Amino acid sequence: MENTRENNLKLYQEHLSDKSAEEVIAWASLEFGDKVRFASSLGLEDQVITDLIAAADPVTEIFTLDTGRLFTESYDLIQKTEERYNLRINICFPDAGEVEEMVDKHGINLFYKSSELRKHCCGIRKIHPLRRGLDGLDAWITGLRRDQSQARDAVQKIAWDDANGLLKINPLCDWSETDVRAYITEHDVPYNKLHDQGYPSIGCACCTRAIKPGEDFRAGRWWWESDQQKECGLHIVDGKLVPQKK
Ligand code: ADX
Ligand code: SF4
Repeated sequence: MENTRENNLKLYQEHLSDKSAEEVIAWASLEFGDKVRFASSLGLEDQVITDLIAAADPVTEIFTLDTGRLFTESYDLIQKTEERYNLRINICFPDAGEVEEMVDKHGINLFYKSSELRKHCCGIRKIHPLRRGLDGLDAWITGLRRDQSQARDAVQKIAWDDANGLLKINPLCDWSETDVRAYITEHDVPYNKLHDQGYPSIGCACCTRAIKPGEDFRAGRWWWESDQQKECGLHIVDGKLVPQKK
């Protein structure tokens, strides 16, 4: 069983290695049907993927994680994107009981108190809903790019996602930030207005700040923590990016 999976992955990787993002998305939909979904954070690269998905046939289902702490601008973008492409973005919410228990125990803004509590909050508001969003799927699509951070420099077009037990497809892994911005402009793709106000990477409002000129792309995410800690856990386990099998 394990061998079959490894062999399939190798074949998939060979097949996709020289394919464009558009081709990767079309292939994923044909190969996995309703067993693949796109997880959109509503970031610039994810809006590019939504634009490509909306033009594909059949259209892959899109979901986003609403932690309950997003910027107003992010909610506006969900609405605008649905109207522009005439599609529904499924929203995965955290479990109300889990959030209530966490806040009762540690306070509403627990994430500033320690990196453990910050990860606890990301776990309850993001990881648990993500697991539900991925339940029963064969593969998920993400907007990960190699040049987003050092931890991401080995991201491939398709890889086995050990943490979640399914394939992870990254159609834009070899795109630069310039490629992404050029696509957005050329295709008039709706994007989060905060990107024009110094926010290149946007997560929860309480955990994201604008960056200053010259600062790293992700410097505004969990800015009070050290660089090594700066992943929310969607793509990381025990401090390391989940291994990408060759
Ligand atoms: S994170 O690890 O810091 O949160 P980042 O914001 O760079 O990740 O997003 C990387 C990819 O993870 C996105 O392209 C998207 O596929 C997925 N992702 C991140 N946040 C969310 C979210 N809130 N909802 C759905 N998918 C998400
Ligand atoms: Fe909680 Fe901040 Fe993580 Fe959002 S980014 S889930 S508020 S710790």
